[in-house]
Amino acid sequence: MKSTEGILKYLKQLDARAAVVAISAGDGVKHILHVDETHDSETIVHPRRKEEFLLGRTAAHSALRQLGSEELVAVRRGARNEPIWPDGFTGSITHCYPWTVVAVARRQQIRAIGIDLENMERMKTEDVRGVICGPAELNWVAERDSVERLTRLFSAKEAIFKALYPLCSRYFDFLDVELKWTKSADGFSGALLTTLSSDLIRGFGFRVVSHRSDQMIFSYLIAGLTVSKCAPCAAGSEIQREVSD
Ligand SMILES: CC(C)(COP(=O)(O)OP(=O)(O)OC[C@H]1O[C@@H](n2cnc3c(N)ncnc32)[C@H](O)[C@@H]1OP(=O)(O)O)[C@@H](O)C(=O)NCCC(=O)NCCS
Repeated sequence: MKSTEGILKYLKQLDARAAVVAISAGDGVKHILHVDETHDSETIVHPRRKEEFLLGRTAAHSALRQLGSEELVAVRRGARNEPIWPDGFTGSITHCYPWTVVAVARRQQIRAIGIDLENMERMKTEDVRGVICGPAELNWVAERDSVERLTRLFSAKEAIFKALYPLCSRYFDFLDVELKWTKSADGFSGALLTTLSSDLIRGFGFRVVSHRSDQMIFSYLIAGLTVSKCAPCAAGSEIQREVSD
């Protein structure tokens, strides 16, 4: 598949600090699971969703091993379905059938990661722009390539949620973040429009890398070790420097 080959090639050169593992459901990969993860999977009713969960944990253990973790420690499921990484590690998981992608890093180097893989076909059938986009984002989507642009925004915002939720334990909506496309950087700069915690305050800025390969959009955000504050909606914080390093 052209698109997934492109994504995999891209993932390999993404960030030297993160171990990135991608598995396809069709590969017949043998599950690597901790007993607690098997237990967590028992609450998932839908068979395909359960298989994705198991592949995600299998990929997570493979990534953790690449980073030198020798023991099989469970990646449990938190109260709002967030993965609870073993001490000293952070990461993120995404599924887009048949693909599961996991990125993991040492917490000494990276504070949080958010990744998301999305198929543009999904956006052709649902008009969710009112749910996802603020006024400036709506104008950007309406200019041209609407399906691609909407998918890029949607995927980037999901990656942001996955990176920031574990840091604040607070749900936030698509309209709580504003993104602006930065062509030269192949991604978005963005900022929080609402305060989520004492350090994730309104105006907190970040960058999300957004990569298209055929019909697939992959989004990636890393949050650095220190949190720097920036002017409202003027992206360009510690996170921005980290991504472009
Ligand atoms: C949680 C959410 C982002 C997952 O995205 P998705 O496209 O549905 O699904 P994906 O396959 O890409 O990702 C699923 C993985 O996300 C991770 N995840 C789920 N909830 C999470 C949370 N609260 N925090 C961090 N990661 C989470 C899990 O690892 C999950 O995989 P797993 O169940 O196998 O462990 C999405 O369902 C959601 O709730 N979105 C609304 C909130 C939001 O995006 N706000 C926008 C803020 S700008």
